[in-house]
Amino acid sequence: MISAGRRVGEAVRETWHHVWMRRQALVGAATAGLGLLGYATVVERNWFALRRYEVPVLPSGTRPLRVLHISDAHLTPGRHRLLSWIRSLDVLQPDLVVNTGDSIAHPDAVVPFLEALGPLLDRPGVFVYGSNDLYSPTPKNPARYLWRDSSLHPKRGFPDLPWAELGASMEAAGWLDANNKRGRIKAGDLDIEVAGVHDSHIGRDRYDEIARRADPAADLRLGVMHSPEPSVMDRFADDGYDLLLAGHTHGGQVCLPGVGTLVTNCGIDPERARGLHRHPPEGSDPRRPWLHVSAGLGTSPWAPFRLACRPEASLLTLVPREGDG
Ligand SMILES: [Fe+2]
Repeated sequence: MISAGRRVGEAVRETWHHVWMRRQALVGAATAGLGLLGYATVVERNWFALRRYEVPVLPSGTRPLRVLHISDAHLTPGRHRLLSWIRSLDVLQPDLVVNTGDSIAHPDAVVPFLEALGPLLDRPGVFVYGSNDLYSPTPKNPARYLWRDSSLHPKRGFPDLPWAELGASMEAAGWLDANNKRGRIKAGDLDIEVAGVHDSHIGRDRYDEIARRADPAADLRLGVMHSPEPSVMDRFADDGYDLLLAGHTHGGQVCLPGVGTLVTNCGIDPERARGLHRHPPEGSDPRRPWLHVSAGLGTSPWAPFRLACRPEASLLTLVPREGDG
């Protein structure tokens, strides 16, 4: 027969065992969490990837065109690895460079950004702004974008970043300002009609100002925007554009292996938050536009991590359509 004292002793030992196990589990989880955060902040955030895609979008008989798509650098002057990686991209010898915005995140970032672009500025180029070119980043819960659309942030009033200086410098180098504007550029052997909108994420897009049937005589009709908002992309598609380029989503920035993008921070579906797709995604029209969404080069300084979603630039090689001509 077990005495009452022995039962009490066993109960106490069992309780302590459970406490010890729970503490070990918490220590293990905290260690794994810190390790993951360290990896996402120090390693993956600086682990730049060059994505390559072939896009069958040109008329038959035309030579391929190499388009370098950069986006969302969110540059602060101290990001030396990012600066040197951007500086290395000219070796790809693109025929055209497209920058879909959110280039800066600091008042002193314009000059380093332009210096990093360096010889890329001597190539034909196109740019639009993102909201973060206008407004300096503010401290916030870095996880809030996982459950809240950042366009719902309180209105910030007047822009406080040197977006106009940034734009003027790119324009002075010969790049086309496509913020609610249309234009025509020559790149490689091609005559390209370009139209773009300012950032729909903060309501600055004015598609009506550029609305018009895209010129069927051009070799390529290119639509450019920061946020890949489906309602805006519908209008580009209706006007006959061949290729749409956007950024903004950061590919979700924090992704789950096997699951992928959790949030897009705009109206596009998570499956098209990065990479090459069509718009609309389904349909029988073989001429509906191709869509490339860049996962971007950087992050907000207040959310300095990326997980299962490396920072990237993309080289799109445009080639003739299959069965065209
Ligand atoms: Fe961004």
